[in-house]
Amino acid sequence: MKAALIRTFGGPDVVTIGETALRDMRPDEATVRIQAAGLNPLDLKIAAGYMQQVFPIEFPYVCGNDFSGVIEAVGAQVTHLQPGDRVFGRSMPSAGGAFAQRLVIAAGDLCPIPPEMSFEQAASLPTAFGTAHQALFDSGRLERGQRVLIHAAAGGVGCMAVQLAHLAGAYVIGTASAGNVELVKSLGADEVIDRRTQDFTQLRDIDLVLDPIGGETLEKSWPVLRDGGRIATLVEFGIESRNGCIGEAVFFRSATPSLPEAVRRFQSGQLQVVTDSIFPLEDARPALEKLATGHARGKVLIRTSS
Ligand SMILES: NC(=O)c1ccc[n+]([C@@H]2O[C@H](COP(=O)([O-])OP(=O)(O)OC[C@H]3O[C@@H](n4cnc5c(N)ncnc54)[C@H](OP(=O)(O)O)[C@@H]3O)[C@@H](O)[C@H]2O)c1
Repeated sequence: MKAALIRTFGGPDVVTIGETALRDMRPDEATVRIQAAGLNPLDLKIAAGYMQQVFPIEFPYVCGNDFSGVIEAVGAQVTHLQPGDRVFGRSMPSAGGAFAQRLVIAAGDLCPIPPEMSFEQAASLPTAFGTAHQALFDSGRLERGQRVLIHAAAGGVGCMAVQLAHLAGAYVIGTASAGNVELVKSLGADEVIDRRTQDFTQLRDIDLVLDPIGGETLEKSWPVLRDGGRIATLVEFGIESRNGCIGEAVFFRSATPSLPEAVRRFQSGQLQVVTDSIFPLEDARPALEKLATGHARGKVLIRTSS
């Protein structure tokens, strides 16, 4: 089968389209004919070799984790799914495999796609929705009526976080560049700060900051917090609490528990999926280059034909 592979660590230029064999399916697994895959910055970090301590990979490695598709075969122990079912999910980062024509994965990690959800929409959700949920409600303990500042609000995680925080009854402030201000407002933000021309450090009494950026953005976020406020960062794993405020690193492990909620929210019209761009599998490298600019507006996707 065709797949986007790496045989050495590096930038998107090390990604090649080649033939690879699908591994054998175990009795509790399913084979999925992939229709779409969602890109995440983690794909770039894995390819660069930065994640070897946490998610070690072996070469050749098929890139990608978030996917959607149609079940082609199920193992003998699988009773809740059958060939022909539309499903989506996220493979373990060390396993990868989403930027390919087929994938073998534990059937327990698959969630059915409702008829009104497209393959592209489904492939956009696992990492972005799950991470936003975990950051806001598990790490961030966000409650109704609280004030939350969401940096990079037009990015993959940001678009989901703005909507989830708004639905939870929080007062939502997002940062984004000028061209994305209206988008972030349309997702439910009460205020959007143009990150290039306006200064978010003037804010005060924020209960929670969601930080997908780190560095200077994280450093400048501490003074906006109320006493006892929290920062949930997606990128600074050495964060420590300071001056009565709590810093917590978010480490997203499994999308599986959050997939049914993503489906419910989508079906009830509460969740929009924002698509930046869609590339064919053959263009996995340009797709990753697009993501690597750091300016995706929603999700960059791959559409796969079998
Ligand atoms: N810890 C975890 O478990 C976990 C899980 C998921 C993601 N992450 C990490 O979280 C980060 C965000 O992920 P993502 O999927 O949302 O990425 P993404 O979709 O690539 O984010 C793109 C967005 O980031 C914004 N941005 C870029 N530089 C910025 C800056 N200096 N200040 C403010 N905004 C900036 C861009 O806004 P403009 O276009 O307006 O510049 C763009 O909208 C990545 O580093 C990812 O690896 C970590």
